[in-house]
Amino acid sequence: MCGIVAYIGKKEAYPILIKGLHRLEYRGYDSAGIALINGKLNVYKCKGKVADLENFAKDKDKSGTLGMGHTRWATHGAPNDANAHPHVSQDGKITIIHNGIIENYHPLKEGLKSRGHVFTSDTDTEVLAHLIEDIQKNENCDLAEAVRIALNEVIGAYAIVVISQEEPNQLIGAKKGSPMVVGVGDDEFFIASDATPIVEHTKNVVYLEDEEIAIIRRGEELKIKTIKNKNKTPYVQELEMQLEALEKGGYEHFMLKEIYEQPRSIKDTMRGRLDEEKLKAGLGGLRNYQQRMLNADRFIIVACGTSWHAGLVGEYLIEDLARIPVEVEYASEFRYRNPIITEKDVVIAISQSGETADTLAAIELAKSKGALIIGICNVVGSTIPRTTHAGSYTHAGPEIGVASTKAFTSQVTVLTMMAISLGYNKGTITEARYRQLVNELEAIPSKVEMALKANDQIKYIASLFKDARNFLYLGRGYNFPVALEGALKLKEISYIHAEGYPAAEMKHGPIALIDEEMPVVFIATKKGAYEKVVSNIQEVKARKGKIIAIVTEGDTTVKSMADFVIEIPDTEEELVPLLSAIPLQLLSYHIAVMRGCNVDQPRNLAKAVTVE
Ligand code: AGP
Ligand code: GLU
Repeated sequence: MCGIVAYIGKKEAYPILIKGLHRLEYRGYDSAGIALINGKLNVYKCKGKVADLENFAKDKDKSGTLGMGHTRWATHGAPNDANAHPHVSQDGKITIIHNGIIENYHPLKEGLKSRGHVFTSDTDTEVLAHLIEDIQKNENCDLAEAVRIALNEVIGAYAIVVISQEEPNQLIGAKKGSPMVVGVGDDEFFIASDATPIVEHTKNVVYLEDEEIAIIRRGEELKIKTIKNKNKTPYVQELEMQLEALEKGGYEHFMLKEIYEQPRSIKDTMRGRLDEEKLKAGLGGLRNYQQRMLNADRFIIVACGTSWHAGLVGEYLIEDLARIPVEVEYASEFRYRNPIITEKDVVIAISQSGETADTLAAIELAKSKGALIIGICNVVGSTIPRTTHAGSYTHAGPEIGVASTKAFTSQVTVLTMMAISLGYNKGTITEARYRQLVNELEAIPSKVEMALKANDQIKYIASLFKDARNFLYLGRGYNFPVALEGALKLKEISYIHAEGYPAAEMKHGPIALIDEEMPVVFIATKKGAYEKVVSNIQEVKARKGKIIAIVTEGDTTVKSMADFVIEIPDTEEELVPLLSAIPLQLLSYHIAVMRGCNVDQPRNLAKAVTVE
């Protein structure tokens, strides 16, 4: 959520910051701003996109080799110019950008007001700028020390960058609960909320831990201390991210690029992990924990949104193949409902970003009860993988489109490998079945390629339904979570109301919605409860609903009933979600484009939801 980028060095900061802010746009935001110091402090900020900020700053003084930029996702106060970051202190000399929430901002603000401070925004962030100034004046200390003292008074989550006109050779960053990474270049440093704005400048990064403060002074080494004043040695790591992965590569939108990347991203997820001969659907990171997983009483999967849908597929897979009971929980519900967790439970946290606040809190809760915590994450070095006992990266590559596509199929791929491997090692599937599933999994990337060939046909179907006001998505068994995911994709990017249901549940309520205006997307692939789904299609047809069906290639039964069919290649029932999700992604993409929606940055959504 929201983005931070800051620079200190020999180059002009403005172009670096603006480019960095563009790279961070995928996270979702409502306003943007920038601060530059060149003798004096200049702050430019406005509601809207980074392009609006550029326009706003066009004729202004943008010089300076120290500066910082922010994209805000409003939590305290409306998205408007005044609430946009950076915020400045009372005397206008200290300025701050912030991701997160200062929970005790109200008492702090009241205290400052009683000491004569006047505020110009509704944000929690501005309070921190004033607090730092207040402390610096009262304690007569330098900026870094004032920041440190202030952070001891703060309750909540933050990633902040602070600079001061009075100390033009110094950049300060600190974090707790929100991610922050420092890029170490030649005679220059960067601070950002994730590595995307840094990767084109340097590959050497330091991830800050909670309650750490990075103190960067020109001509000096990076210093890190905790808010309790303990010095830390910076641990410099090399970034694996490739710059090309952050560009659109000729596609109109990141989302389309990411949909088309899936043959490769799924292959990357499996790379080096599938070895049919040596019988290892091996997830290296879990090897030392396999016995504990096999002995578990149950698995609890915690996640949000699309990752939760992947978790549901995981439930079907793990129960089916490894016969271990699985519960799938919304992380946000799990953490607040006093769940029963024991040391014999294995908790699997699934998160593309690795930063989702609710998922993180669910992990902490389960950890405190002694459960083994396993992460399935995409962003390397993000917070969740660093919090779990063990885990498996999905290796889908950076996902920039806010609506998750390739991350979903990669999460499902990891869960599939996990279930196959557990099932084989537990003896709940035979060696022959194991080999069959592994072989078929290897064939999935080329089958995804074939599924993508339906793009033009899907685009045509999208043109017929783009003005629909509602959509229903129905599927059974492994295709039920896919129906939920299809509906979520449509809602997120086209703003059409859509619901996903298990097909048989339709007659218990949603059937009342069906008339000749209602498009119903059925996922009716062969195997599983195919015949039952066919009956459900008849029920919709009898009520004149418009049927769009995802079918296995060569299907004739559904073809004779549906208004439109989209074919996907045949595969094992357990692997169907990896294929049936593809046409649904394309359908929502084309509908959203035709409705003129901002596909990559849908309104109100953020890529990493770092607030609860
Ligand atoms: C996906 O399209 C969504 N934008 C959203 O539901 C997302 O899956 C959810 O916020 C969880 O994010 P995470 O995987 O990064 O934890
Ligand atoms: N809580 C701050 C605000 O509303 C920061 C929000 C963000 O993380 O962008 O301004």
